[in-house]
Amino acid sequence: MKIDGILTRSLWEVRDDPAAPVVGIIDQTCLPFAVVHRRIGSAAQMVAAIASMQVRGAPLIGVAGAYGLALALRDDVSDAALSTAHRTLNEARPTAVNLRWALDRMQAAVVPLPPTARAATAWAEAGRIAEEDVALNRALGAHGATLIAEAHRRLQRPVNVLTHCNAGWIATVDYGTALSAIYQAHDAGVPLHVWVDETRPRNQGLLTAWELAAHGVPHTLIVDNAGGHLMQHGQVDLAIVGADRVTARGDVCNKIGTYLKALAAHDNGVPFYVAVPSPTIDWTIDDGAAIPIEDRAGDEVRIVTGRDDAGAPTRVRIAGDETRVANPAFDVTPARLVTGIITEHGVAAPAQLRALFNDTPTVTSRREAA
Ligand code: MRU
Repeated sequence: MKIDGILTRSLWEVRDDPAAPVVGIIDQTCLPFAVVHRRIGSAAQMVAAIASMQVRGAPLIGVAGAYGLALALRDDVSDAALSTAHRTLNEARPTAVNLRWALDRMQAAVVPLPPTARAATAWAEAGRIAEEDVALNRALGAHGATLIAEAHRRLQRPVNVLTHCNAGWIATVDYGTALSAIYQAHDAGVPLHVWVDETRPRNQGLLTAWELAAHGVPHTLIVDNAGGHLMQHGQVDLAIVGADRVTARGDVCNKIGTYLKALAAHDNGVPFYVAVPSPTIDWTIDDGAAIPIEDRAGDEVRIVTGRDDAGAPTRVRIAGDETRVANPAFDVTPARLVTGIITEHGVAAPAQLRALFNDTPTVTSRREAA
């Protein structure tokens, strides 16, 4: 997508020194106030970037993890280095399954190879994972855009979409998941407006508002507790969120607060959609209760970061150290509250998710068949 009219991705390769490639990222902890590029030159730096949420969003974490492993092998091709990098990167954030998925895929690609071939293969595989992420998100967004266009045909007025957290292009390599659907509907001329949940404590809604503004999509920022009220008053036509992990039966783990929005949507007859590329689906578990929920630092709740009136970065303490804080970063929305899961293969009710994938060739197998 574009920043100031220039096509930009959230992560890219930097090959100033061909013998020692590094990775460029947008430091998302500086958004929405400043677009700061950083260079990640080692696996340890990538672990830190993922843990501190300089890179964030399930699909982007997966790609970042893949490059983290490639950086580790650039420096040391031994089995020991590989398994240490796999473990430390995987532990950087426990909830989004994309990270484990990408690391396992990287490991499988390099383990059978002689040491001399490992570094180049890892780098190439990370690049493939990044390009696939873009293709998957573009494809699922087209399916989601169709849903928004159908709502517009039915309503004959701009469609009001509610979203939570940031499931936009910066949470992926490009396009986004929930926002990919919104961008593609907007670009196709479907009139729409987006209610953007603030998403305390890290306020990823501000990133969503920043993205939507850059793309010219009408939107309104709301506090996290406003969604239910808006739904009761007929001001939300559908909700679309992303996810960090969807189980085989369609339970959805996403940013804390998603469950409450799904409950309110269910109570008010508002369709609730979840947009995910296939690497976000964890086919190994059925029950969302088995998903590890990341507990983050209490200071994320006690301290609000932003800019002062002069534009300088500032931190404001809103609770003292003596205040005990719980900060679970994600929650699980049971499949029964989910209207449909939007994937690169199409849209399916949770109970039909498995069939959607069993009946449709994957992107990779389609390419092999061609
Ligand atoms: O803690 P974050 O900001 O990494 O959480 C991100 C989310 O919960 C997103 O909704 C999810 O990863 C989908 S991103 C396309």
